[in-house]
Amino acid sequence: MDEKFKKFKLAVAQFGQEQLLDAYNMLEKTQDKEEFLKESLTIDYNQVKTLYEESKKTQGSTEAKIEPINYIDKSKMTKEEYAEYESIGVQEIKAGKLAVVTMAGGQGTRLGHSGPKGTFDLGLESHKSIFEILTDTLKEEREKYGIDIPWYIMTSEENNAESEKFFKENNYFGYPAKSIKFFKQGKLPMLSKQGKILIDEKGHIKQAADGHGGVFHSLLKGGMIEDMKKKNIEWIFVGGVDNVLVKPVDPILIGLSIKKKVLIAGKSIVKANPQEKVGVFCKRNGRPSVIEYSEIKPEMAEELDQNGELKYGESHILCNLFNIKAIEKISNEYLPYHIAVKKAKYTDGSGNVVMPEEPNAYKFEAFLFDAFENIDDMIVMRVKREDEFAPVKNATGTDSPETARELYKEFHLKIK
Ligand code: UD1
Repeated sequence: MDEKFKKFKLAVAQFGQEQLLDAYNMLEKTQDKEEFLKESLTIDYNQVKTLYEESKKTQGSTEAKIEPINYIDKSKMTKEEYAEYESIGVQEIKAGKLAVVTMAGGQGTRLGHSGPKGTFDLGLESHKSIFEILTDTLKEEREKYGIDIPWYIMTSEENNAESEKFFKENNYFGYPAKSIKFFKQGKLPMLSKQGKILIDEKGHIKQAADGHGGVFHSLLKGGMIEDMKKKNIEWIFVGGVDNVLVKPVDPILIGLSIKKKVLIAGKSIVKANPQEKVGVFCKRNGRPSVIEYSEIKPEMAEELDQNGELKYGESHILCNLFNIKAIEKISNEYLPYHIAVKKAKYTDGSGNVVMPEEPNAYKFEAFLFDAFENIDDMIVMRVKREDEFAPVKNATGTDSPETARELYKEFHLKIK
């Protein structure tokens, strides 16, 4: 304890984070103090300093050269092309070369749901949760290809126990438990506008999920890459938890990637309108990339091409395929952090809990698609919105349970 405390005191003094020492002194129970100390020593203070310095620089795509990206329209492939990609892809799937990663680190807060987003009841007659709907999709593929597809679910510190419990209590919704593995994503401290690490309402260090760009490093740290290699996995589909029409097992995407010799492929849909809250695929300084909806300039979002279509209209739907070599490479590299200024409850120096009226805290998140730039080239395959994209993001209105339910029902009626 003494050694740990000395280390902690030294670090906070060196990096100007002495408010952590005050917070530590304010704790009464020995157990709370020990936990605080343990957590404080997991923090990379040097990284925190760099992140704060970065927050002072201008963000986004201002200096980069942005251009539209080429894409392949799945619905315009010739019969021969389609059949060729399909046959290559099916062979890979049947040989057990595909794994699926679902990023489920988020909570259902925006939906007004208090648990992990995956446990949200979509409101179908069956009252299936998002997790069960995703499991149904994998179960169908399992039957179709006669193989258990390994499924890796990324949770967060906050929702891991609840997510695992939910699956266990529901008997893994009939999917083989041995084929499902959970791993946790990383977290980073939230900082005040002065660069000080904040203390949460319980007196602990205020930390937040480090964004889904952390998935690569977390896969490595959690031993998942090793597990995939043991299983001879070659291709990994990585998707979000919040799309109830996600199609993680897609032989065409795999076949196309193999044929075109790329290590990454992403699915796109046509952007509904310039304001739609989706990122768009592009080329950034000649390399594949995505401009996030929060970072695209309005004039760029509205720009039209010669055909009168949106110049930046290939929406990124967080449905991407990676070769294991790409995952391994990226997991050892650095991804930039995007900064969001959030309203965050915190405990001040006198021990009072403050709920600010204005955004007061920096949150740092890495975005998965920034990894595309680390690889020379990728394929973007345009798919049909009504077949593959039914996001559940907001409590009401666009991308809500109501809209997702309708899309889900329409799709399932169509394929019956
Ligand atoms: C995201 C994409 C956007 C895309 C849209 C499609 C980002 C930054 N942007 O926007 O380009 O067009 O989806 O629906 O992702 N997640 C984690 N851990 C985190 C953060 C997110 O697991 O730390 C998971 C969430 O559980 C969710 C997914 O990632 O499944 C998307 O995250 P969210 O923050 O909801 O992204 P959007 O703003 O909707």
